[in-house]
Amino acid sequence: MEAVVQQVDAREILDSRGRPTVEAAVVLNTGHKGVASVPAGASTGTAEAMELRDGEPHRYGGWGCRKAVANVRGTIARALVGRSFAHQKELDAALIELDGTGRKERLGANAILAVSLAFARASAACRGIPLYEYASDMVGFRAARLPRPSVNLFSGGCHAGRQVSLQDVMLVPHAATIDDCLAMVFSVYQEAVRWCRERYGVRPLKADEGGLAPDFPSSEAMLDDAVRSIERAGLTPGRDMSLAVDIAATHFVKDTTYILDDESCDAEKLIARLEKWSERFPLVSIEDGLAENDWEHWPILQQKLGAKLVIIGDDLLCTQPARIEQAIRLGAAGGLLLKVNQIGTLSEAASAWRLAHDAGWHVCVSARSGETEDHWLADLAVAWGHSIKVGSLAQSDRLAKYNRLLEIEHQTGWPLWPVAARSTIHGVEDS
Ligand code: PGA
Ligand code: ZN
Repeated sequence: MEAVVQQVDAREILDSRGRPTVEAAVVLNTGHKGVASVPAGASTGTAEAMELRDGEPHRYGGWGCRKAVANVRGTIARALVGRSFAHQKELDAALIELDGTGRKERLGANAILAVSLAFARASAACRGIPLYEYASDMVGFRAARLPRPSVNLFSGGCHAGRQVSLQDVMLVPHAATIDDCLAMVFSVYQEAVRWCRERYGVRPLKADEGGLAPDFPSSEAMLDDAVRSIERAGLTPGRDMSLAVDIAATHFVKDTTYILDDESCDAEKLIARLEKWSERFPLVSIEDGLAENDWEHWPILQQKLGAKLVIIGDDLLCTQPARIEQAIRLGAAGGLLLKVNQIGTLSEAASAWRLAHDAGWHVCVSARSGETEDHWLADLAVAWGHSIKVGSLAQSDRLAKYNRLLEIEHQTGWPLWPVAARSTIHGVEDS
């Protein structure tokens, strides 16, 4: 006998930008309870599922989530209470059907995902297993490895007032444990603070994900400064610590022209620039090197650089199975940035993971720039990710995830995935 949903509740809480978001709670008749809250992006893709916001200009500038909360407490609760669901997929299918729209705009992806996650937590508790095991079971794959952290060092673009175009420069430590990775990142981050002070004459302010955001003269200077910070920490770039970048090119394209810092260029020129950067800097992955709808040029980028590093699609793919299938068919990328709230339920994100996995891609499980202290993302990354992208070693919304990874490492002792791992080197599949 499966557990019956006894109670579904929700409320507004505040995220790391001080904006409201949705926290949902699901209680089963066994007494097990799951609570989960959802994040929000700023550098969003147009194909993402719809977050329902109140749009009342005088309350939180329109960012309120009272309508989404009311949808959980009303329509969703009425539809779920008293029913049992054999799998996560059954619950998610009920939510999708109840919403009935392509982008979840009726009930709101924020309302739906909060319930999907809270149900997952309650079900994992009911089965007496950790959430990462529950997520592994969902896809029938248990790798027993931990995701390699990709930690934000410098921010530009939408996350830092657009002082330069490049959105994120991340540190990818080569250490063997989460514990050692974080200690290495800490020393580079501290060196970067000192270096920025010397170079820019100010204590650098922090951007949305805790990344340092001084007035870099150019995107390339961000990369130079990152390499310099690694060296000043006594580490060897490319051997002890590599870099990953999120170009977030969707956010500096106009029609077919990219405006990188102050320079206008076409896609070919931008690709040539990325090639140059991949030669000059120890890059292991490039995310959104081109805009979300530039399907023509993504395969060229993948062809030129895909063997050397991982070409990751974020806005391009939006964790949407149809877009991922298209990218696989066209050979447009080699990695998926997996963000559950881009699609709106855990099961649909699992389908996205399955496609990427079967194509031999790299999977990076990612937080959003607006986060809460909830740490379900760490469990999801352990189950599904070769790497995890959470932001800097700063702010409790980021640290909650790192602390949960440390806890899982402490409990399991599992090794980390290699740098820029791909699904082809995976171990054994469960049936
Ligand atoms: P977002 O950006 O969470 O602000 O959308 C993160 C990213 O682009 O990866
Ligand atoms: Zn991105």
